Amino acid sequence: MCGIVGYVGGQSAQDVVVAGLRRLEYRGYDSAGVAVPADGGLASAKKAGKLVNLEKELKDRPLPAGNTGLGHTRWATHGGPTDANAHPHLDNAGRVAVVHNGIIENFAVLREELTGRGHHLASETDTEVVAHLLAEAYSSAGELAEAMRQVCRRLEGAFTLVAVHADEPGTVVGARRNSPLVVGVGDGEMFLASDVAAFIAHTRSAIELGQDQVVELRRDGATVTGFDGHPAGTRAYHVDWDASAAEKGGYASFMLKEIADQPKAVADTLLGRIGASGALRLDEVRIPPHELRDVDKVVVVACGTAFHAGMIAKYAIEHITRLPCETELASEFRYRDPILDGRTLVVAISQSGETMDTLMALRHAREQGARVLAICNTNGSTIPRESDAVLYTHAGPEVAVASTKAFLTQLVACYLVALYLGQVRGTKWGDEIRTVVHQLSDIPRQVEAVLGTMEPVRELARTLADRDTVLFVGRHVGYPVALEGALKLKELAYMHAEGFAAGELKHGPIALVDEGLPVVVIVPSPRGRSVLHDKIVSNIQEIRARGARTVVIAEEGDEAVVPYADHLVRIPAVPTLLQPLVATVPLQVFACELATARGNEVDQPRNLAKSVTVE
Ligand code: G6P
Repeated sequence: MCGIVGYVGGQSAQDVVVAGLRRLEYRGYDSAGVAVPADGGLASAKKAGKLVNLEKELKDRPLPAGNTGLGHTRWATHGGPTDANAHPHLDNAGRVAVVHNGIIENFAVLREELTGRGHHLASETDTEVVAHLLAEAYSSAGELAEAMRQVCRRLEGAFTLVAVHADEPGTVVGARRNSPLVVGVGDGEMFLASDVAAFIAHTRSAIELGQDQVVELRRDGATVTGFDGHPAGTRAYHVDWDASAAEKGGYASFMLKEIADQPKAVADTLLGRIGASGALRLDEVRIPPHELRDVDKVVVVACGTAFHAGMIAKYAIEHITRLPCETELASEFRYRDPILDGRTLVVAISQSGETMDTLMALRHAREQGARVLAICNTNGSTIPRESDAVLYTHAGPEVAVASTKAFLTQLVACYLVALYLGQVRGTKWGDEIRTVVHQLSDIPRQVEAVLGTMEPVRELARTLADRDTVLFVGRHVGYPVALEGALKLKELAYMHAEGFAAGELKHGPIALVDEGLPVVVIVPSPRGRSVLHDKIVSNIQEIRARGARTVVIAEEGDEAVVPYADHLVRIPAVPTLLQPLVATVPLQVFACELATARGNEVDQPRNLAKSVTVE
């Protein structure tokens, strides 16, 4: 949600900042802007719409050359996506420029104060007050970092701020509270960004900034303090993927590339999980084994696609550990006063590690004494930092707004967490755990096989491009898969799409079925829990009898469904619990192709952002 870049070094600041914004555009694309202190003044440009509009503007009217600068790509909160509301915002004298991600909750009071003192505010944003406050503070502090500290102490809400001042052309100052900001350490150059993707082409050395910290960046290094001015500790880390991982690599969209990346992403997430002793390992566990043995309830919290992974985690955790498990939308969690105590384990799932709803849910859980285990794809992000244990998914950077490879790796991580709890609590023997890990290690090959047979799915998607509605139904772990299939179609194709538990059809949704309505059915394996299979075959007959056009996703060798399938999509036979790992893939391909056929841009769907850092 909003992408921020800051740079100081030897290269053209405008070029480095714009290239960084290009990599952060997934965070918001309502407007973009840059500012560069140069020739004793401050030059800036900003434009509503996607980054390409700003690039055109800069081509026609380049900023003066400078080696220090900042930039912003926006997902609008306060004020519509106009040129005036675009960042950076400047003070009235045009000496200070600031960009912001988050929401400043007390901005109305501050704005009133500032107008009372004669400031003229030109936008509807909450951010602009910061530019004016910084200018005032600078006139007494005489130093941008100190001015930033003074201003931050007055702000309420969530914010990452980055600022430059005409009088300090070799400095960039950043600050963060409840919103992401990382430092990139180059050779004679330094970077600030919402996400390492912005500077990965220049350096893989990064520094995490903590909560309520201010960083002053110069070419030769960075100084980090708290908002109170005391020196602050930081953690340096190495980014374990390179610039090529954040490129499209010949695919027409990031989404297509990320769908194709899934076999590798799953394999990478499984890598090195079994230690020399044969026991399963997580990345960081700061919860003693006896506390994990005392856990009497697991609560999974997440948003969006990660929530669907959490719904599947419930089946795995209850089955493997025999512990009761609830899955809850993070945005609802803390407002219903959930029952939590020292024996509750909360599992927070987040690709970005920055989703505000999930972060707030985990903070609430910890305040109530619960232990929190994070499943996250982003090293150095806030959610794993504030958790007691972490399992990182190794999906690599996910750029397309609609999540694909992160989802599959979240599922793998959920199974691993369930097995880990089973191991610590003694509900599963070592060989049982290794059997499931072995089954998981076959999944990359099986996903690859699914990807190789997707042409008929793409063809079908194109024929449905003019439809208004598509329904998805499933049972057991196929139910969250149905929800995920519907979410993908909403996000990408802007179509009415809904997922249902197949058993619920006759309690209402079946009234939606009429002649020719496409209904995608995720069929459980006829092996194992065959009762589920028999029930869903009856459900398919019920909807088909009412005119539905059925798209049946069923495992190889399941002949019972053939007579009822208008379109049959085969997936490999895998254990029931693991089926979402293969059944989701055709739904991703289907949504991507259908959206493309409707002329939509799949990587940046309208109104969305990848990382939602506001509540
Ligand atoms: C946004 C994205 C979704 C994502 C959700 C949770 O809504 O558009 O794709 O699933 O946030 O994000 P997280 O980073 O916490 O997994």
